[in-house]
Amino acid sequence: MQVLILIGYATVEPAKYVCGFKAPGLPASGKTTDYAFEMAVSNIRYGAGVTKEVGMDLQNMGAKNVCLMTDKNLSQLPPVQVVMDSLVKNGINFKVYDNVRVEPTDRSFMEAIEFAKKGAFDAYVAVGGGSTMDTCKAANLYASSPHSDFLDYVNAPIGKGKPVSVPLKPLIAVPTTSGTGSETTGVAIFDYEHLKVKTGIASRAIKPTLGLIDPLHTLHMPDRVVANSGFDVLCHALESYTALPYHMRSPCPSNPITRPAYQGSNPISDIWAIHALRIVAKYLKRAVRNPDDLEARSNMHLASAFAGIGFGNAGVHLCHGMSYPISGLVKTYKAKDYNVDHPLVPHGLSVVLTSPAVFSFTAQMSPERHLETAEILGADTHTARIPDAGPILADTLRKFLFDLDVDDGLASIGYSKADIPALVKGTLPQERVTKLAPRPQSEEDLSALFEASMKLY
Ligand SMILES: NC(=O)c1ccc[n+]([C@@H]2O[C@H](COP(=O)([O-])OP(=O)(O)OC[C@H]3O[C@@H](n4cnc5c(N)ncnc54)[C@H](O)[C@@H]3O)[C@@H](O)[C@H]2O)c1
Ligand SMILES: [Fe+2]
Repeated sequence: MQVLILIGYATVEPAKYVCGFKAPGLPASGKTTDYAFEMAVSNIRYGAGVTKEVGMDLQNMGAKNVCLMTDKNLSQLPPVQVVMDSLVKNGINFKVYDNVRVEPTDRSFMEAIEFAKKGAFDAYVAVGGGSTMDTCKAANLYASSPHSDFLDYVNAPIGKGKPVSVPLKPLIAVPTTSGTGSETTGVAIFDYEHLKVKTGIASRAIKPTLGLIDPLHTLHMPDRVVANSGFDVLCHALESYTALPYHMRSPCPSNPITRPAYQGSNPISDIWAIHALRIVAKYLKRAVRNPDDLEARSNMHLASAFAGIGFGNAGVHLCHGMSYPISGLVKTYKAKDYNVDHPLVPHGLSVVLTSPAVFSFTAQMSPERHLETAEILGADTHTARIPDAGPILADTLRKFLFDLDVDDGLASIGYSKADIPALVKGTLPQERVTKLAPRPQSEEDLSALFEASMKLY
């Protein structure tokens, strides 16, 4: 059962325009804005040790031939072992695919899709971080739609952005990081190698059927994986809370199937985002610094899901839009604590490094929201002036990152001023998210944001 709530314009925060009417202030050729938003969430089950139930879930679904996906590093760690034990105990027939690439690419997605097509599976279990969950969503989608071209479902303008109308097989996601919230979202992100830029597939249809959120898995994470995945939660919360309101997004869909997964900030997503941010403020530093702090790590695991439910419906904006070329154009940077053989800027790091510059830029559109989030993150805002909202949030973020030993800006992960044109070029196709920024941005604005992010402290 999926939780689906469709809310029209007569809600607590009424949208001003009904679909089909031109929004006042738009030019004659202007598009109409939306008047509704939809909350779509996977079922989730939370509890220490809950992973052992996965075999029974698959049995209850009647699954006879299951695909278990993970990455090479995790395949040697307890989370995967616990899942396999449960499958064996419950007599579930399964095959393991442990070739997921950390920070997947179109090529690594296609390899997983090939495996899924050949296996003709009737259910999937993804055990891992966002890389694994996203790869598994794509494998399930294309194995269920075997005649589609890979780009058919990829977000426009890079792909065709076709709506998904085929039924998918059940997918149980077992997150092992506290970051992406991918267990709750209809999003699968990959690096499109040909353009050296990340893009993805976004459709409610690819949401996992069930997320099993088991905080015991988080005890195995090394400290940089905790920190970087935690920054992803931080930015999901901040970006979705400050995104363009849903009733200012255009165009208004003529059919609900084309209403995007990322719809703009809305009163329900706001609640999830703010709650996630409070947890980040209280627990992220503890979770990074002490691997045995089960309370802190458990709370961050939940925060990831809270933020996922928020941003999975509201969307993210500039930190994420700008992060995709930061990851995609990586040169030689090797992230500490990531057990992989390729250069890599971890997603959470690529997102958070631009956050001080981004929120300085967006604050003028909703200064109260920017001040409110700064206060949650520890700033004293009692005497703050509205025009200072941006700098206050930016300084609060810089201090937060400094306290957690984060690299000093894009320069410290291998970028220089000479890379800015390529970074801007890689951001331009990310319209799906950049258009959700509350403030429109020109190419010059994007250049200035990258330049301001070269050094943080
Ligand atoms: N689908 C979405 O909604 C969404 C949202 C944000 C990000 N993403 C994507 O997710 C990916 C990043 O995912 P991530 O940050 O969760 O990390 P990840 O899946 O890339 O894993 C990072 C590293 O941590 C290791 N690891 C994971 N869990 C572990 C554990 N419990 N113990 C020890 N090691 C562990 C992995 O083996 C890997 O080496 C990126 O590709 C990003 O673009 C997706
Ligand atoms: Fe993210």
